[in-house]
Amino acid sequence: MGNEHYFTPYPTSHSAALQITAVLRGKEYQFVTEAGVFSRSRVDQGTRLLIEALPLPSEGRMLDLGCGYGPVGIAAARENPGLEVVMVDINRRAVELAAVNARLNGVVNVDIRQGDGFSVVPEKDFALIASNPPIRAGKQVVYPLLAAAREHLAPDGLLCVVIRTKQGARSLEKYLAGIYSQVETVAKGGGYRVFAARR
Ligand SMILES: C[S@@+](CC[C@H](N)C(=O)[O-])C[C@H]1O[C@@H](n2cnc3c(N)ncnc32)[C@H](O)[C@@H]1O
Repeated sequence: MGNEHYFTPYPTSHSAALQITAVLRGKEYQFVTEAGVFSRSRVDQGTRLLIEALPLPSEGRMLDLGCGYGPVGIAAARENPGLEVVMVDINRRAVELAAVNARLNGVVNVDIRQGDGFSVVPEKDFALIASNPPIRAGKQVVYPLLAAAREHLAPDGLLCVVIRTKQGARSLEKYLAGIYSQVETVAKGGGYRVFAARR
């Protein structure tokens, strides 16, 4: 495994650690992943669709909600160094990996936190909240999280969410339309959809 010196704070002796490469928005990234985190062997197809579709503000604050090992927030932060990117995940291992990966990709404009959704994210001025949400945790987890996101957006802020078309995209779209002022499909492909919901 190359570039080990970049992530010495992380115990690379972890037998399950992998380093993967991905090209996102035309730039190459390295990510260290491990067993127990989402999509450890490659950047998930839905995640890619989300990253490519994100209307990134040039400055202000963005949130990567459920960051996993970090592809969404890290790609956004590298693309727009003027952005302040907050990344949150409930999974401690994911958060540790996201921090390793931010360093590995030379990204400093990130603030990575461990916790349950907005319990560790008090800011209410995000220009953009992006999420590949934990659909497997069930609607009872995901819907309240995406509803709470509205309260953390700036007045004209946008929530961008990717979902597998067959994993309840239609009902999620309806749910979001009942809460947000406007909901649009901004990308689709490979069995996924990206919705953008305006506060
Ligand atoms: C589908 S994965 C996406 C991970 C990463 N963004 C990616 O695209 O590779 C969803 C993530 O949400 C995290 N998660 C689940 N419940 C959460 C919660 N209540 N608060 C924050 N993160 C949560 C999971 O640990 C998981 O990493």
